[in-house]
Amino acid sequence: TELSHIRNFSIVAHIDHGKSTLADRLIQLTGTVAERDMKAQMLDAMDIERERGITIKANTVRIVYPAKDGETYVLNLIDTPGHVDFAYEVSRSMRAVEGSLLVVDATQGVEAQTLANVYQAIDADHEIVPVLNKIDLPAAEPDRVKEQIEDVIGIDASEAVPISAKTGIGIPDVLEAIVTRLPAPTGDRDAPLKAMLVDSWYDPYLGVVVMIRVMDGMIRKGDQVKMMQTGATYRLDKLAVLTPAMKDIPELGPGEIGVFTASIKQVRDTRVGDTITHEKKPCATPLAGFKPAQPVVFCGLFPVDANDFEALRDAIEKLALNDASFSYEMETSAALGFGFRCGFLGLLHLEVIRDRLEREYDLDLITTAPSVVFKLHMRDGEVRELHNPADMPDPTLIDHITEPRIKATIMVPDEYLGDVLKLCQDRRGIQMDLTYAGSRAMAVYDLPLAEVVFDFYDRLKSVTKGYASFDYQISEYREDHLVKMSILVNDEPVDALSIMVHRDRAESRGRVMVEKLKELIPRHMFKIPIQAAIGSRVIARETLSAMRKDVTAKCYGGDATRKKKLLEKQKAGKKKMRQFGKVEIPQAAFIQALKMD
Ligand code: GTP
Repeated sequence: TELSHIRNFSIVAHIDHGKSTLADRLIQLTGTVAERDMKAQMLDAMDIERERGITIKANTVRIVYPAKDGETYVLNLIDTPGHVDFAYEVSRSMRAVEGSLLVVDATQGVEAQTLANVYQAIDADHEIVPVLNKIDLPAAEPDRVKEQIEDVIGIDASEAVPISAKTGIGIPDVLEAIVTRLPAPTGDRDAPLKAMLVDSWYDPYLGVVVMIRVMDGMIRKGDQVKMMQTGATYRLDKLAVLTPAMKDIPELGPGEIGVFTASIKQVRDTRVGDTITHEKKPCATPLAGFKPAQPVVFCGLFPVDANDFEALRDAIEKLALNDASFSYEMETSAALGFGFRCGFLGLLHLEVIRDRLEREYDLDLITTAPSVVFKLHMRDGEVRELHNPADMPDPTLIDHITEPRIKATIMVPDEYLGDVLKLCQDRRGIQMDLTYAGSRAMAVYDLPLAEVVFDFYDRLKSVTKGYASFDYQISEYREDHLVKMSILVNDEPVDALSIMVHRDRAESRGRVMVEKLKELIPRHMFKIPIQAAIGSRVIARETLSAMRKDVTAKCYGGDATRKKKLLEKQKAGKKKMRQFGKVEIPQAAFIQALKMD
């Protein structure tokens, strides 16, 4: 296809503002999928989605559109993952297209998550077409929302397209806007091949499917290609476009988006942002901005029932096959038995994986405190990575410890700024910049990642009523006064609860943790001391008093069925418990105890 007849775009929207409904409409209106096939094909796409889990591209599709100017255009819609842990993947998807539709629910207005992605689109120099959705609803306020887009985001919204993705109003206008307002891609057909690896996923029938955007040159089935970052070479078995079903195509040129297969075994062998070129006639330089996926947050995952270990191993191996940014190694813990130490891109990534293990594989898991990778500079000059506070060596052997710092950008309406600044301050943040755009403030902070990994998002969301956007980049490793704090329950250390903490904050963190644990651990027949300690020095202590009477006592032995029910309930509750010496600790305590409020 000629460059002038191609338009590539993504859709930026907050969850529930109608991104999927609009994508379906665009596909339907252009007849890409015949009405009766629509359901079946969409279901296919859903299967892929389920297989793939989080970096879903089910909305990636090539649409053929006959425009009002009498010409026929090829429109490529690329779907993007929508949250901060995948900021890098989003940035690559954005570089693969020239424009974005900004879909805003006209009954709701601009929301936090929209902002982070809009800024990614602006960063990628996109032309942005605002689209006001759900105008069929009486509560829609298109004029107010237009104004808000201009104030908050700072782009012209005077020609925003009012639509209803549900009823179909305005959809033809969206298609026309894509053709007339978004720029055509540029590129050189005769130059050596230069294509960006935008995404990849595992297909049970085809193996690894790689999605690419061609920048320069031509790619054909049978070509011998090289991935410039990994150095691996492959021969293309299949070249296709997504309609959204896969449709073979003989070649793809500049500006085009498609997928190929090449007997690639695992998703790990492909790197988002890598440059694909011909082995024989390579391009001179790879595309800028490549970053290898690097897990920054680690935690332990252990089965509640030790018999589930093999099932957990199988499930983790399956998930890892399809997710290059998830890493794991076996771990043994005195308290928790056999499990895995897993690495994630961020907290949400962690949550998604844990949820999938629990829901799809039906596993009951104990998740230990998320932790970042600390670097231990030993006295003998060696530098060790600490993935797990439980592995902390004798502190006298350590010269100093460094931790990852991030540069965090937070956008927030004026009225919540004070609370946000306080939150950042409380988490050892250093303010780097503070600017205003309309009624919104943008604060840039230098923060320790360790202080952010736990419940920073939750706190930020709650102090700003969800009206803040947050984005971060790892900046550097820096020295600080970090110590390991252990928790002892009934005089036994619970290694899953040990954390690395700043020396000046150890005492207050320790006090909060023991107080929480006192609430979270049920009473036993004996007194239980709960302590926080640095080395052998106890810095906080609570005592859980002994239980007075048997739980079944209140049944007076009379009502046998009621008594049985109560015991059954207790038994079910036990499944979620873990034994430490003589004490049973509920699973929820491991997470709850670490929250910082
Ligand atoms: P996620 O898939 O969760 O990211 O959401 P999304 O942004 O893709 O939104 P989706 O298309 O799933 O729409 C969210 C809800 O809004 C659905 O219940 C839709 O039926 C509804 N919806 C979408 N567009 C319109 C519209 O124009 N009018 C009305 N009344 N409802 C709409």
